[in-house]
Amino acid sequence: SLFPRPENEPTCNYAEGTDALTKLRTHLADRTVVEIPAVVGGKKIFSDDVEIIHAPHDRSRVLARVHRPSQAQVDDAIRSNLEAAHDWSRMDFADRAAIMHRAAGIVRGRLRHRINAATMLGQSKTLDEAEADSACELIDFLHFNTFNAQQIVTDQPLSVQDAQNRCDWRPLEGFVYAVSPFNFTAIGTNLSCAPALMGNTVLWKPSNKSTWSNYLFFEALEEAGLPPGVINFVPGEASLVTDAVFASRHFAGLHFTGSSEVFRSLWKRAATGIAAYRTFPRIVGETGGKDFVLVHRSADAREVAVALLKGSFGYQGQKCSAASRAYMPASLWPKVKSILCDLMAQVRIGDVADVSTFMGAVIDQNSYRRLGDALGAAKADSQVKVVAGGTFQDEVGYFVQPTVLQVEDPSHRLMKDELFGPVLSVFEYPDSAWTEVLEAVDSVSDYALTGSIFCTDRAALKQAQDALLHAAGNLYLNDKPTGAIVGQQPFGGGRASGTNDKAGSWMNLLRWTSPRVVKETY
Ligand code: SER
Repeated sequence: SLFPRPENEPTCNYAEGTDALTKLRTHLADRTVVEIPAVVGGKKIFSDDVEIIHAPHDRSRVLARVHRPSQAQVDDAIRSNLEAAHDWSRMDFADRAAIMHRAAGIVRGRLRHRINAATMLGQSKTLDEAEADSACELIDFLHFNTFNAQQIVTDQPLSVQDAQNRCDWRPLEGFVYAVSPFNFTAIGTNLSCAPALMGNTVLWKPSNKSTWSNYLFFEALEEAGLPPGVINFVPGEASLVTDAVFASRHFAGLHFTGSSEVFRSLWKRAATGIAAYRTFPRIVGETGGKDFVLVHRSADAREVAVALLKGSFGYQGQKCSAASRAYMPASLWPKVKSILCDLMAQVRIGDVADVSTFMGAVIDQNSYRRLGDALGAAKADSQVKVVAGGTFQDEVGYFVQPTVLQVEDPSHRLMKDELFGPVLSVFEYPDSAWTEVLEAVDSVSDYALTGSIFCTDRAALKQAQDALLHAAGNLYLNDKPTGAIVGQQPFGGGRASGTNDKAGSWMNLLRWTSPRVVKETY
């Protein structure tokens, strides 16, 4: 085979005294304001419509100026995608794959510290979280997608004596619209590059909050030899870009990660235009979560507390996989609570450029206000007890303390609705009510992305997995529900959490191909 089965990218050693940490610090200290253009057909487009990007944990610090394209320029981007499609779709798979590998090599070799610094500053990620995202996961997506795509395109039908059969693994006809979120730099890479690897051209709209790190990767792709127009980088106002995309007869697919609400609205847009499109568009989305941690009386209290600390508050709870509702047996909760509160009292919250920081700021003012409102409502609610945290302040940056709330009713909205912040809601149940609690976990929330079960009793563990068959697309037994690794835990969920096409796997890649089968007789 062309490309061997990849291994996951190891993390870089950023210990005190290393050259890596010195280089990273130089990037973190660099106060140059970065100009970020749209890139269409290989040309940089600077406009008068500029959005200023600040560091969420240091609101006074300007990081970048994003040049937002006009409607006409988005139309140009679509035209350029369609022009590039002819050659790109006919290029050998190995050549497309080589470009992706070369881009991964650039990130690994030269870009790593810079893209990590951009992710830390722009998205308020700690060093560990940034390295896991904009270096390891990003590189893994490129390597694993290439390997998995190779398995697909080398799969061929049976030929017989008088007839040869062949499968041409064509891309979709038209262009793919990739809409990526702020919370993982690597997701932008996957949303744009997975369809491109399969031969599609892509109009990529990154979140405005991650435009800087996404743009650094886009530059790496260009340097790696991506032909102009194969991926057009189009930051900007979502509704303007979306309007242009859905008005095109050649819209062929949506590759989305973001909120369930936005995904539904995009799906409706596609449905409204369905008669006008040349093909039935492929709609692939990973959306929200209300991810559970279900604890059985047989679990270890310390393990549970550590998992909750990392799973609920890592990256300020802004992962779609974050633990946000926990179900605790009465016999174990007091001990878990006391360990968790001790751990929470020790964590550092603040400037992510300080490598001992555990939590940075939430992404922006909207998010800060939304969380503030939710915490205000929780405090005023007699059904809710604040176990820890609950405070917030925004003088320097948008800081929300990690918060644990306890509810009396397992159907309380705090157990249902996604908050996308460092807030964990806990429901305590009588140890004997295991069967009833399984029902609550399964039915109360509409989401079904990730979940954890902490339990060492095999019979109870089996019962829970059976009862929760559709409650999570990624289920963790005795581990936190975050931090899926490409190739190890293909990622995605069902119900309101998305189409479950498993990022980084062949299941996702198959959505970006529309095969032609050719029979030739002799
Ligand atoms: N893949 C991430 C995780 O598992 C979330 O998007 O945490």
